[in-house]
Amino acid sequence: MDECAHGASGVDLRLDRAHSARIYDYFLGGRTNFAADREAAAKVLGVFPAAQLAARVNREFMHRATRALARAGTRQWLDIGTGIPTSPNLHEVAQEVAPEARVVYTDNDPIVLAHAAALLRSHPEGRTAYVQADVTDPAAVLSAPELLGTLDLSRPVVLSLNALLHFVDDERGGGAHAVVEHFKRALPPGSVLAVTHATADFAPEALAEVTAIYRAAGTPVRLRDRAEFARFFDGWELLEPGITLSHRWRPDDPRDVAAVSAAEASCYAAVARKP
Ligand SMILES: C[S@@+](CC[C@H](N)C(=O)[O-])C[C@H]1O[C@@H](n2cnc3c(N)ncnc32)[C@H](O)[C@@H]1O
Repeated sequence: MDECAHGASGVDLRLDRAHSARIYDYFLGGRTNFAADREAAAKVLGVFPAAQLAARVNREFMHRATRALARAGTRQWLDIGTGIPTSPNLHEVAQEVAPEARVVYTDNDPIVLAHAAALLRSHPEGRTAYVQADVTDPAAVLSAPELLGTLDLSRPVVLSLNALLHFVDDERGGGAHAVVEHFKRALPPGSVLAVTHATADFAPEALAEVTAIYRAAGTPVRLRDRAEFARFFDGWELLEPGITLSHRWRPDDPRDVAAVSAAEASCYAAVARKP
């Protein structure tokens, strides 16, 4: 395998295997994907032709939510399941509103780490950091020196879990809900939880096939229905418009809502504040 297949950290990036972060990068029109990823992506598109659209509207939710929260005064973000950098990244959106914004990115994948340099180009007034960790180990994330050197955990933080939790099953770390509860308990009042999550509620057969393709590629997927998604926000106050689909959360243009069906998006989104 060549040098680039091992990344800067020397970890084998397994370019011969399809990988969820690189499949998603392909759907977003990125260049950090390889033949095996494109092959899996083609299979997904064969059963769910809206996959690229769904990826785009998921990403755009992150842009709108980040902008709205920055405008409302939030200055700190913890983004877990960051993915391969895709411009604009979260800190670029936040720092456009508030240059002093601080963002900690976390992913468990060496592929993302290999590309993390783009996430660390902060505005000089703000700061960004990268933590290589698994969301199912919240204590490790919250005690990472890079995080503690960047965020003030006595002040409100936005916990951004965008298109991440459907990769967390109900066993690891006590299950996805227990993992999220751990973070919610650790963050101070005024903190915000912003989540998107794939669902089979609107296109069950297609999403079952998508799940099978990811599983065959070595990535288990656990889709959740509306009630299971809603439980992530228990005890926190949902911000307007409450639980909705990714493209319907405060759209910039109402025409964006009509242009995408629920089945095409197949992804819930919501933002809530800790009382
Ligand atoms: C579909 S991408 C989402 C990227 C970005 N958040 C977005 O919405 O545009 C999901 C990311 O979650 C990461 N991921 C999956 N399971 C994880 C885990 N247990 N801990 C941390 N990151 C994880 C993957 O490596 C991938 O980069």
